[in-house]
This record gives sequence, C-alpha cells and structure tokens, in this order.
Amino acid sequence: MKYAKIIGVGHYVPDNVVTNHDLVKMMDTSDEWIQERSGIIERRWIKEPYEQSTAHMGFEAAKMAIQRAGITNDEIELIVFATLSSDYYFPGPGVKIQQLLGIGNVGAIDVRAQCSGFIYAISVADQFVRTGMYKTVLVVGSETHSIGLDKTTRGRTTAVLFGDGAGAVVLRASETPGVGILSTHLHSQGEHAEKLFLKAPGTGRDGIIYPGIEQDVDNIYPVMDGQFVFKNAVVRMEEAVKEALNANGYKVSDLDMVLAHQANLRISQFVQRKLGLPDDKMYSNIQKYGNTTSATLPILMSELWEQGKITEGKLYALVAFGSGFTWASALIKW
Ligand code: UT7
Repeated sequence: MKYAKIIGVGHYVPDNVVTNHDLVKMMDTSDEWIQERSGIIERRWIKEPYEQSTAHMGFEAAKMAIQRAGITNDEIELIVFATLSSDYYFPGPGVKIQQLLGIGNVGAIDVRAQCSGFIYAISVADQFVRTGMYKTVLVVGSETHSIGLDKTTRGRTTAVLFGDGAGAVVLRASETPGVGILSTHLHSQGEHAEKLFLKAPGTGRDGIIYPGIEQDVDNIYPVMDGQFVFKNAVVRMEEAVKEALNANGYKVSDLDMVLAHQANLRISQFVQRKLGLPDDKMYSNIQKYGNTTSATLPILMSELWEQGKITEGKLYALVAFGSGFTWASALIKW
C-alpha cells in the first residue's frame, strides 16, 4: 500500500493588518474583550479595491508549497480545494487554481466542511494516493471572510473572530510504510447545522441592499451560538485526537505536536489541558490571524515548518472542529 507524504507546505496572508483597535472604530467592542475571550490581537483582511480572492490567495500558497516540494506545476495530478468562501457561488475555486497554475486539465474537487475543511480535503486526497490512482496531489485551504462579515455592532460576536488567508500542501505517494498520513477521521452532526451557519450569502457579499426591500441580516451574515459551539469544540477535539492515536496504536505521550484548528485560544488551551500536553507541543498563531477556517491548519503547518518545528520522523496530530458541526483529525508521521 502507498502512503501520502507531505512534501511541501506553503501559506499566504494579505498584507493588510487589522488590529482590534481598528475594529473599535467600526463597532462597539474593545481590544480587552477580544483578547480576553479569544486571544486574537490582529487579523489580515483583504483591502478595497478587492484585487485578491480565495482562489488568488490559494494560488499564492500553492506556489510556495510547490516550490518547497521541489516539483513543477505540471506534476500535479489532482487539486482538492477546501473553502466556505468561494469566489463564485459556483464553480468552486478549485478550477480557478488549475487555471492560475497553468496546468493540464486535471480534476479539481471542492470541499465544503468549514473549519474541518482542510482535514476533510487531505483525507480525500489521501484516498486517491493510497489506491494508487494519483501520485501527486495539491491540497489548498483558503478563505476570504472579510467581505462577508457584518462589521457593525450587530455582527460583533463573529466579525472580530475571522481573518483572511490561505495555506497549501503537496502530497506525494511514498512506498515507505508508516510514513506520511497514517489515518484520517471525519465526523459530522447535522442536527447542529444552525448553531453556526450562513443562510444566503449572495447579497451580503456584494453589499447590495435593494431599495424598498428589507434585508434580513440573519440571512446574509454568519450566525453563531458561540457558547454552544465552544462547549462542543473542546469535547470533540479531544475525542478526535484520541481516536487518531488509538487507530494507530499510539499514546498522547508519543505525539511531538498537536496542530489544532485556531478558532479561539481558550478552546486550544482547554484541549491542551485535557490531553495533558506541555506548551511546546501545541502552538497557536490565532493572535496574528484570527480564525481563517479551512486555511488555519496549513498556515500553522507552514509557519511551524519554517521555524524548524516540523521535521522528518516526528508524529503530529491535526484536529479541527466547526460549522456543521463537522470535526476531524489526522495522524501524520512527517
Ligand atoms: O471555528 C469554529 C467555530 N467557532 C468557534 O469555535 C467559536 C466558539 N465560541 C467562542 O469562541 C466564544 O463563544 C466567543 C468568543 C464567540 C464569545 O465568547 P463568550 O465568552 O462565549 O461570550 P458571550 O457570547 O457569552 O458574550 C458575552 C458578552 C455578551 O454581552 P452580555 O449579554 O453579557 O451583556 C455579548 O453581547 O459579550 C458581548 N459581546 C461582545 N462584547 C464586546 C459579544 N461580542 C462582543 C464583542 N465585543 N466583539
């Protein structure tokens, strides 16, 4: 059997830094509230006039991952793209990245699993590599949240949390047993779909308010029951890490690091405590980027790789939880 090994990681965030103090000018909030409740200090938001998009940021991250993998664009045989903020309602951004990379007419799969999107996407890619159908697969997670948020006091519970950015990895088939993606574990619970959801994004994204037609802002902006999501996240994320370890005969103490979805610093700290992990086994970058949904894990992975904290032979657990509810984990021997 073949294993999918990550041979390149990359990320991209827009230059435009939006601090908590900048948000205070838009809505009734404070730096103190945001930091205390979420750990976030600043995030990146694309700037008007909007010249970047989910596909373009994904392309930038993909270029870096491909370059670091030491391969050429045309070696890619499949694209898997995770996002909840597609450039168009359809088609998804997978096809745009195929165009931007200038590669042949390879398949492009779009994955919609929100904050768990990146793990779902590498799980999809992993299956194609394991069966031998494709040798080299590009997986991208990218989000443009900033143009779809209610940046008034009414939307403050969600608006302060989310940021824009992208990350990507290149997976390559390896014959070495026990190296690469060891397993992935996917879950969902649709009964809680409305605990964090967006009913009808179209008009909200373009900012079009039709004269004489009252807009229901609950339809065009994300709605979240924050506390309910928080409580479920901490339980499911711990569960999912343990599930991945059990499936492979490992213990928590065998892990070199847990890469956890960055939704809230307090969620990560809870999960870290419940797993009994020391500080050097769980990193956070939510302080700089906020929650970038499907881009979070590859951005974190790329930064840790740059810092020399992700190296050959080490064992990493990826874990995420979000809207759906969906949650997922993956165990990776680098
Ligand atoms: O990616 C996965 C999906 N997302 C998550 O995992 C998020 C999970 N949930 C959370 O991270 C937290 O629930 C939040 C950060 C969203 C909120 O923190 P909280 O400690 O649960 O606060 P809360 O919702 O209970 O709100 C407390 C107070 C409320 O005022 P009252 O009713 O006590 O007077 C809110 O209206 O804080 C108020 N509030 C704010 N105040 C200042 C809500 N948003 C803000 C804000 N600035 N941005």
